[in-house]
Amino acid sequence: MSAGRPPSAGGAAPVPVAPRAGGAGEGALADEGAASGSGRSPPRALSTALIHHPYRPPPGFGAVPPAVHKASTVLFADTAALHRRNWRDKSSGYTYGLGGTPTSFLLEERLATLEGAEHALLLPSGLAAITLVDFALLKQGDELLLPDNVYGPSRELARHELAQFGIAHRFYDPMDAAGLAAAIGPRTRLVWIEAPGSVTMEFPDVPALAAACRARGVVSALDNTWGAGVAFAPFEQGVDVSMQALTKYPSGGADVLMGVVTTRDAALHQRLLGCRTRLGHGIGANDIELVLRSLPSLALRYAAQDAAGRRLAAWWQGRREATRVLHPALAGSPGHEHWAARCSAAAGLFSVVFDTRYDARRIDAFVDALRLFGIGYSWAGPMSLAVPYDLRGLRGAAGGGMLVRFSVGLEALEDLIADCGQALAALKD
Ligand SMILES: Cc1ncc(COP(=O)(O)O)c(C=O)c1O
Repeated sequence: MSAGRPPSAGGAAPVPVAPRAGGAGEGALADEGAASGSGRSPPRALSTALIHHPYRPPPGFGAVPPAVHKASTVLFADTAALHRRNWRDKSSGYTYGLGGTPTSFLLEERLATLEGAEHALLLPSGLAAITLVDFALLKQGDELLLPDNVYGPSRELARHELAQFGIAHRFYDPMDAAGLAAAIGPRTRLVWIEAPGSVTMEFPDVPALAAACRARGVVSALDNTWGAGVAFAPFEQGVDVSMQALTKYPSGGADVLMGVVTTRDAALHQRLLGCRTRLGHGIGANDIELVLRSLPSLALRYAAQDAAGRRLAAWWQGRREATRVLHPALAGSPGHEHWAARCSAAAGLFSVVFDTRYDARRIDAFVDALRLFGIGYSWAGPMSLAVPYDLRGLRGAAGGGMLVRFSVGLEALEDLIADCGQALAALKD
């Protein structure tokens, strides 16, 4: 045992009452350090001394990245501090890991800024964020309206858990704001909006949809994963709640699952916060760190993937194998006028509808022949992705056929174009 090391766990040293550490900041245990005769050995068993150690690193460490704090237990300076703490109010401090840490609060505040919101809540995935909105704002007997091009798992949630809880749902045409106004019934409490539908890419008139909800006192919630807080300002469109899968652009690494729900409305925030707390959602600090690390490059990545996406989409427009290219920023794409009126940018995501002479087997062969595009769901990561869909299962199926959704990553555009070009050979027998 080195000089100055506390007695081993087997020693008979008495274990004093634990010091108050939490919240007291640097120097909370200064009296302990001063007590060490050899300079650093309070009379404690090793196991205790390894936890209640007097050393405190010097303050004043400045660095560009924020510190990463991990906790389940949060320590209070004393019982008065414990009693004072209000888990509903960030400014009153910390309560328990599930309620938030300096690291999670920091990401929430940055995301509230990104979205132009007042409040943000992190969730462990984008789908968990959707679920939170549904669970917090709907109860037995209520009705939910979903766009009929809604993100698939949101539809499944309505069909299963919401139905099981006595919550009804119906679908509306996102390109028909008057139709939504007519569809809102006396039991409707929540309307989801998606801009654009993430496979069929129709860009709706978000302000008109949000206004229809507001006129009937119904909460509107936008899935803003595509816009990512960059392409347009969600709350300027009149929605009450915005949600993002941080899994996509804010992470940008294809390595994190996370979601966020933002709002400007304090009462809505409290309902969402209460529900998140009761559902017990925890988000790992290492994942939060990854998103904090990626956020500073969000606008740059979004712009680069937007530029490459538009150019690749334009290349596809010139291919005779494609009958339509669905990209909100391309004239003629459904809802292009709404995109043009509201947006300053677009995600690097678009769909190509293939001539019906190419059946599912040939389209699969084309996707298999791509060398740079990974085959997989999601978007906004460094690697470009491609997924085939049969139009029969989708909105806008008129004429049928197959569609391939492309997500443009960060590879060089000319390589992506060359890859698509060479894979077209697989369409032929
Ligand atoms: C539009 C949209 N919303 C929500 C989600 C859900 O995000 P996550 O995969 O983090 O659950 C996705 C994921 O693909 C999505 O595309």
